[in-house]
Amino acid sequence: MKSVTVVDHPLVQHKLSIMRNKETSTASFRRLLREISLLLCYEVTRDLELTTTRIDTPLEPMDAPILEGKKLVFASVLRAGNGLLDGMLDLVPAARVAHVGLYRDHDTLEAVEYFFKAPSDLEDRLIIVVDPMLATGNSSIAAVDKLKDRGATNIRFLCLLAAPEGIENFTKAHPDVPVFTASIDSHLNEKGYIVPGLGDAGDRMYGTK
Ligand code: URA
Repeated sequence: MKSVTVVDHPLVQHKLSIMRNKETSTASFRRLLREISLLLCYEVTRDLELTTTRIDTPLEPMDAPILEGKKLVFASVLRAGNGLLDGMLDLVPAARVAHVGLYRDHDTLEAVEYFFKAPSDLEDRLIIVVDPMLATGNSSIAAVDKLKDRGATNIRFLCLLAAPEGIENFTKAHPDVPVFTASIDSHLNEKGYIVPGLGDAGDRMYGTK
């Protein structure tokens, strides 16, 4: 089984605490999510392979390190994934983007797909799936199922908060996909919300409640 990494950097934890506070405004929540996603992106890409390219500095030629391989793909699980995506693209502007549209059926908590668009050559690329809340794991599992159906083999999963139940379900379904999160919270409540959590991530970032 691949690892679960908790990104415990003090800046991540500090920003996350402000985001959890129900008094935090939509504008601040969105800004903090963008900032935190830069830090999470840094961690999830920490071990990417490098190659070198010959360049001339103003002083002399050198073999300078650059990322090896094809451009990354960030796969956003709509709609809340877009909050993480924006900051990730600030850091890796050349990344390709996939969108996976899934909503949670409020009665069954199952993921229902309504949209999918991705680069055609997923098999050659590292895919980083972004979804802020790993709750039941149903939508994250479904998103990774779909990406694998389309050929993806090298996948990482990045979220902001995870419930132990979601981690258990996700790593059972996709043991080859490493998970990165800023926190593993206590549990899920009867409605499938992460506790203590931060509420509905989509509503908090878009002010829809
Ligand atoms: N999705 C959310 O936005 N919040 C949760 O707590 C669980 C799923």
